[in-house]
Amino acid sequence: MRRSRSTLVALSLLAAACSRTPGPGESLGAGVPAREAVSFPAGWRFPSGQEAAFGREFMIASNERRASDAGNEIIRAGGNAVDAAVAVGFALAVTYPVAGNIGGGGFMVIRMADGRAAAIDYREVAPLAAHRDMYLDASGNPTNESIVGYRASGVPGAVAGMAEALAKYGTMTLSQVMQPAIRLARDGFVVDSAFHLSLASSRDYLMRFDGKAMFYPNGQPLPVGTLFRQPALARSLSYIASQGPKAFYDGPVGDSLVAAMARGGGILTREDLRRYRPEWRTPIRGSYRGYTLYSMPPASSGGISVTETLNMLETWPQVPRWGTAQYAHLLGSAYQRAFIDRNAKLADPAFVSVPIDELTSKAYAQKLAKTIDLARKTPTPPNGAQIADGMHTTHYSVVDNKGNAVATTTTINNGYGSAVYLTNVGFFMNDEMDDFATAPGKPNMFGLVQYEANAIAPGKRMLSAMSPTIVLDPRGELLLVVGAAGGPRIITATSQVILNVIDHRMSLADAMRAPRIHHQALPDTLMVENGGLSPEAEAGLRAIGHAIRYIPGIANVNAVMRVRGGWEGVSEPRATGTGGTSAR
Ligand code: DON
Repeated sequence: MRRSRSTLVALSLLAAACSRTPGPGESLGAGVPAREAVSFPAGWRFPSGQEAAFGREFMIASNERRASDAGNEIIRAGGNAVDAAVAVGFALAVTYPVAGNIGGGGFMVIRMADGRAAAIDYREVAPLAAHRDMYLDASGNPTNESIVGYRASGVPGAVAGMAEALAKYGTMTLSQVMQPAIRLARDGFVVDSAFHLSLASSRDYLMRFDGKAMFYPNGQPLPVGTLFRQPALARSLSYIASQGPKAFYDGPVGDSLVAAMARGGGILTREDLRRYRPEWRTPIRGSYRGYTLYSMPPASSGGISVTETLNMLETWPQVPRWGTAQYAHLLGSAYQRAFIDRNAKLADPAFVSVPIDELTSKAYAQKLAKTIDLARKTPTPPNGAQIADGMHTTHYSVVDNKGNAVATTTTINNGYGSAVYLTNVGFFMNDEMDDFATAPGKPNMFGLVQYEANAIAPGKRMLSAMSPTIVLDPRGELLLVVGAAGGPRIITATSQVILNVIDHRMSLADAMRAPRIHHQALPDTLMVENGGLSPEAEAGLRAIGHAIRYIPGIANVNAVMRVRGGWEGVSEPRATGTGGTSAR
């Protein structure tokens, strides 16, 4: 029978509607409660009750649609979630150069449908020539060399990490999964307004270095509608595809990178590249009200800080209602305590002994939770920490048609990293060195005040906040794949999406759109998104001693959640651009 196109569209919409988020009273499956409606404060910029993207078989959520499509192509060609995640990672390096990268590093948490869980740490390390005080001026004050320019980069881990994850858990070759990225770099893609605006806002930063000819022809950001080709990047990617990660760490790409960095006054050497190794780690396995979480251990603080926060909250049989002063106070106070530990105790485990078991234990959370006074905010010891905005890492969540899941967060730190674009290899270098405590006790770019544990040492990984997380429901079935960009706000935003789903039973669309709060111990301020508090909640919080600071946006999350009949995906509504889910 032949059907008209409109009939087919109507039928497929009907089929999709029949298998969407369960309605009131229905559940996602045994053990997972039904979603409930939520109302956001009047004046909040996003409405509740929106639709998420839906895929019956698989779902990919990233910050960039073409990159998500790269993963889609790989799954359709028979690849699994790890194959797809690596394809997305390389494609983001092409289509989302503000954060996607091969000049930076990241963390990937994997949970295979057969129950295996793994975490790979491909964080940058400090070059061998780095030293504790390399970013201090003659009077001991931090310079901005850890943020901008050739000396700001750690040794990139992205290529090694993605290749290693693929070799262990993927099913395809590196060359196969890199094809979409190579094509996008070689043949080009059309500049959209999000990319244009991102370049426009970074103009002063980037025009100082060699990216100006590529990204600002005639001194202006690439116009919307331009076909943007990156032949040098296509060449680097092709070398990696054909020779493996060796091309980057001990071959033509690495040689060109080191030469360009040396010309600019950087300290990264061939020896640094040759020595780089990603590390397989045991994921942090937390539990919250019967749900199981797999998240990232050090060198990221993400998994410990998220788990510590949730453990504190779990000591209350039920959290206060979402949107109330009581809830924001409890959550903010838990974050404050988790960040006090984070900032002092967490660091690269190869250099510092991190008490992971203690910090993630329920007993320890009981002790910390007892220090939270529900009637009064408790102070963090004062310090002049500042807070800076930032959305410039990128997280992607992938679930394939067999139920394998991958949560990956990757970064070059600041938007466009150190601003150093290497024309001979075609990519930006990271400024991850700023994630160290470059001046212990003094705030870094994100206002984080960190201490000796995270001081610079050669070969050491700088502490991260990246929190790629996979959540299983009480029956042990995959429920949620989530993570974020946003510096320290990664921890708070990721955990709030999880709490919105588990405690507040929001749909994924609402959980992602709900206003977010943030507390990082120092500055001792409860940060709230503009319009994110009702007047009553704000008054209630001030009355118990909170200093509130309104900020434009908190973090950039991309998440996938199981619903009846398939998967929902939501890419960050706060981010500009088309967003990037891709599904079937
Ligand atoms: O690893 C970290 O925690 C940071 N380098 C992440 C930076 C980030 O999210 C930038 N965007 N705000």
